Amino acid sequence: MSSYPYVRPRRMRRDEFSRRLMRETVLTSNDLIYPVFVHELEGREAIPSMPGVERLSIDELLRVAEQASELRIPALALFPVTAPEAKSLDAAAAWDEDGLCQRAVRALKRRFPDLGVITDVALDPYTSHGQDGLLDDYGYVINDLTVEALVKQALSHAAAGVDIVAPSDMMDGRIGEIRGALEVEGYIHTRILAYSAKYASAFYGPFRDAVGSASALGKADKKTYQMDPANTDEALHEVSLDLAEGADMVMVKPGMPYVDIVRRVKEEFGVPTFAYQVSGEYSMLKAAILNGWLDERACVLEALTSIKRAGADGVLTYFALDAARWLREQD
Ligand code: PBG
Repeated sequence: MSSYPYVRPRRMRRDEFSRRLMRETVLTSNDLIYPVFVHELEGREAIPSMPGVERLSIDELLRVAEQASELRIPALALFPVTAPEAKSLDAAAAWDEDGLCQRAVRALKRRFPDLGVITDVALDPYTSHGQDGLLDDYGYVINDLTVEALVKQALSHAAAGVDIVAPSDMMDGRIGEIRGALEVEGYIHTRILAYSAKYASAFYGPFRDAVGSASALGKADKKTYQMDPANTDEALHEVSLDLAEGADMVMVKPGMPYVDIVRRVKEEFGVPTFAYQVSGEYSMLKAAILNGWLDERACVLEALTSIKRAGADGVLTYFALDAARWLREQD
């Protein structure tokens, strides 16, 4: 009695109503975080390796923020594009209180106080060599000096009024140092979204074009601080350290090639866990879509649902505005 013909799983798949009843994972706009590139120029500028994604002036950013709020996307993540002449060996532009990122945060929080704003804490947009930290004479990223710089950067974002700082640099000990400094300065409500399991991935290529760090980085890589794509236990170790140091949320990055990591992190720790569908994932999908090889709406929603099904509480995605529109149309 326990199998065919009595058991027919297809019965539940026969009609839309019973498919809806047994659906486990439902993607909503609450699951989306929209990463945006901000530049010092006027207007918008296309990013050739990310068709459909543009660098935005602060005025354009405010327009996009209005759309995001209207679509009930909970938060934006800001990525400033630094002019080459503002980059330096010590990345001092990163904690300039009048820097692009800090001005963008102030403008957003003034106009849209209810929209969550996330800033990236990492030095790569500001270093002349494109690495996420300060280098010693041999080109190695010096951990503790870099952490001191990251603390200054995070404090300047908090002073500008950011809701969430997101250290994406993978230095040891940075979450604890940033948390301690935020406490001392009275920013007790500033949340930390730790890029805890950030892999040394080749899927970040188009992002580096977008922020202009690709040419600075040249052939160098980030393998001495970002994780080896072959590892999973190391991801759990990193997450446990970041939580102990005071992270409120953790992130796995990239997204779809790393959904097994998302699942392990969520099962092991049960804390707010996010995944980043990174630039390479976006460009890969978009290239196939623009060739007419994949159906955009179906594939994008499937990819995002899969990341949520794996255990993510939310996904950073360059498709956020479109996805939120499609989800609204479905209702
Ligand atoms: C900077 C940073 C990177 C991304 C987010 N923050 C690039 C890198 O580490 O080289 C990548 C995001 C994407 O590819 O969409 N530390």
